[in-house]
Amino acid sequence: MQAHIAVLAGDGIGPDVVAEAIRVLEAVEAHYGHQLLFTRALVGGAAIDAVGTPLPEDTLTLCRKADAVLFGAVGGPKWDDPTKPIRPEQGLLGLRKGLGLYANLRPVRVNPLLMGASTIKPKVLSGTDLVVVRELTGGIYFGVRGRGDNNTSAYDTMTYTTHEIERVMRAAFELARMRRKHVTSVDKANVLECSRLWREVATRVARDYPDVQFENLLVDACAMHLIRRPSSFDVIVTENMFGDILTDEASMLAGSMGMLPSASLGEGKRGLYEPIHGSAPDIAGQGIANPLAAILSAALLLRYSLGLEDEAAAVEQAVDQVLEAGYRTADLVTDQTTRVTTREMGEHVAALVTRG
Ligand code: IPM
Ligand code: MG
Repeated sequence: MQAHIAVLAGDGIGPDVVAEAIRVLEAVEAHYGHQLLFTRALVGGAAIDAVGTPLPEDTLTLCRKADAVLFGAVGGPKWDDPTKPIRPEQGLLGLRKGLGLYANLRPVRVNPLLMGASTIKPKVLSGTDLVVVRELTGGIYFGVRGRGDNNTSAYDTMTYTTHEIERVMRAAFELARMRRKHVTSVDKANVLECSRLWREVATRVARDYPDVQFENLLVDACAMHLIRRPSSFDVIVTENMFGDILTDEASMLAGSMGMLPSASLGEGKRGLYEPIHGSAPDIAGQGIANPLAAILSAALLLRYSLGLEDEAAAVEQAVDQVLEAGYRTADLVTDQTTRVTTREMGEHVAALVTRG
């Protein structure tokens, strides 16, 4: 097949890890006879430096025309001035909103080989395989915000419509149907009005999926249960900011943030694929970042946007095999394993894909 992929590497380790994701996609291209056209564009701090805005019009246009967007990371201390209204993160938020990507899928699978890398006990981690579906284009991230009189107060507002809740809820239930058929909807309905609406809609949508087990859980309790009994979760669906926080927490189950991919989807097939980790400017360009989250994000791209299930599975399998062979980047290396650079890790995965 032929597909057009917009590549937005961004800042910090973004370019380091995206280069390896592309290396692996090129191996898929060659081995399976597809034609992938990669077009690079600016986003985040790199775009601010080059053209003064974190999401240039050209970038958004390119992404709208592409079949999928491969994204690295944005941000860094260089652009962290709180007095400046323009921030790199606005590039990512603008893309999510501009492309209508309301459902963010963040799978957390604990690889038995990496259990030792987590701070949580192996017997608690064992069998963990969950997906957080995070609402991505609404809530407090996109609400009205500002400062009160004389800068002595500030406000951020959270708004949700039934439409916004319902569509992400359905995405979660559809996903659960392809998995272990269990949905946990997470809110703060004992305090927040948005959460009370969230729970009403969730409970209503659940009736359309009688084959899927459904429960509501308060976000504080969810934060606790995620590290107490992570293997009991299948699909967790929640609003934007709760999802942001819970997925950083959940990433620690997998041992390293460097392992976790994500897919952001909307109505069509086009999606944006990014590791859940940030730009880690302190280790950028040193060849030590873990590219596996970006490579696994490329696998999700193959699966969800291009419909190439076999190819996606082949990449995921290659990652498992490389880990089995004992190769680890700095974040995960131990006495019993072999330390490799960002690039070597990418090359190992690509080689296995090429070998088929
Ligand atoms: C994430 C990140 C972003 C978010 C930042 C970079 C704006 O933390 O994707 O989880 O908060 O959504
Ligand atoms: Mg986050």
